[in-house]
Amino acid sequence: MPDLKTFIDENRGNFIESLKELLRIPSVSTDSRHKDDVKTAADWVASRFQELNFETKVIPTKGHPIVYAESPPVPGKPVALVYGHYDVQPPEPLDLWVTPPFDPTERDGNIVARGATDDKGQMLTHVFGATSWMKSVGELPIQVKFLIEGEEEIGSANLAPFIEENKELLANDVVVISDSSQFAPGQPAITYGLKGIAYFELKLIGPNRDLHSGSFGGAVRNPANALCGMLSTLIDEHGWIHIPGFYDDVKPMTGDERENFAELPFDEENFKEQLGIDAVHGEEGYTTLERRWARPTLDINGLTSGYQGEGAKTVLPSEASAKFSCRLVPDQCPHKIGKALREHLEKVCPSGIKMEFKEHHGSPGFVVATDSPYIKAASDAIEQGFGAAPVLIREGGSIPIVANFAEQLDCDVLLLGWGLDDDNTHSPNEKFNLADFQRGIAASAQLWAELAKIEK
Ligand code: BES
Ligand code: MN
Ligand code: MN
Repeated sequence: MPDLKTFIDENRGNFIESLKELLRIPSVSTDSRHKDDVKTAADWVASRFQELNFETKVIPTKGHPIVYAESPPVPGKPVALVYGHYDVQPPEPLDLWVTPPFDPTERDGNIVARGATDDKGQMLTHVFGATSWMKSVGELPIQVKFLIEGEEEIGSANLAPFIEENKELLANDVVVISDSSQFAPGQPAITYGLKGIAYFELKLIGPNRDLHSGSFGGAVRNPANALCGMLSTLIDEHGWIHIPGFYDDVKPMTGDERENFAELPFDEENFKEQLGIDAVHGEEGYTTLERRWARPTLDINGLTSGYQGEGAKTVLPSEASAKFSCRLVPDQCPHKIGKALREHLEKVCPSGIKMEFKEHHGSPGFVVATDSPYIKAASDAIEQGFGAAPVLIREGGSIPIVANFAEQLDCDVLLLGWGLDDDNTHSPNEKFNLADFQRGIAASAQLWAELAKIEK
């Protein structure tokens, strides 16, 4: 049998081929036309565990299936639970992809496809970290459980009750998640905080049909005008959000944390240049990293009304709607904010307009302690896999189920992101660096060894 490191080095090509197989399955969870593809992806993931003779189940839910697998117990050692997701965001707009989204292509050291970094590539580093132990050493030094779901991108609604009902099955000391980013190329990171989210939709209904904007304009309330007015009451030019009570539960940043953020080598000029903007913008009194990682925000995610086709059309639309969301920090409560928002919108909704307001999904933000033995173990594993020690960061993204793990299973959480900020997550030409894929597999394999050193 080859040794562990040799096995990982020699199987680089096999790992990539295997990743490509999964990337070819269009497992778009939000789109019912892809329901069978999502199931195919679940079965594909389950097969990787069955090949290792792990106890494996594909558990149906009201939505998409959950894949669960576990390696044999190792008494006296910690238990790790790897969480990841095999579902992906829709690939649209398709015409902006250089190569088709579900035809994974190697370019400039990257694999380009929907799901490459979020989360198929990152998730598989742990599958292949475990595979490497099984195929070289013959067993893992700790028990590793895997919980890979198909509804992360739509809010994990069916996973929360599953965790609640299967606390014993899922019992563990530390949850390991690779579904975020490094600080920069060559600078890996451990993420100790994620934002929460509260997602809303507002629909305004005016006259019972679209109208000629000359004949009726000025005499009938235009829902698109009303929508602009209502949305503009929510956030001002200082970046302050005016939902009543919005900041009540926001913990102020500590001086130490602000210093730690300020010490990271963040290059704001490069940030602007990468995004093609001439100025950064956000809540007054905070730096760009503070705004991105540790302050709550509000963004419109989609606006729909009136004529969207080519050329001009003079119409007073009968309806207008907006999707928008707040990113939350500890200890803001998504439902409390939703309730306050609904009351505020009802107050500012003008005459002549009926409003429909919907809360989509919500999850709280969280931070984890940075002085745990698990963080130390992960830091050592990353240093060995990536050749550089990780820095501690927070992130602005959300992984809805993470708060449930900590609460329901009384475990630590390790967020070990192998991606990069410019991976085009949720956007055309999503990519994952193949050297980071390989380094992630090495770090994952090493993590099991480092965790085995922790006394239970
Ligand atoms: N992997 C991301 C979350 C993420 C992105 C964490 C960037 C850290 C940095 C995850 O798949 C995701 O996109 N989450 C959604 C959750 C939402 C759909 C409930 C998000 O953050 O928008
Ligand atoms: Mn993800
Ligand atoms: Mn995502």
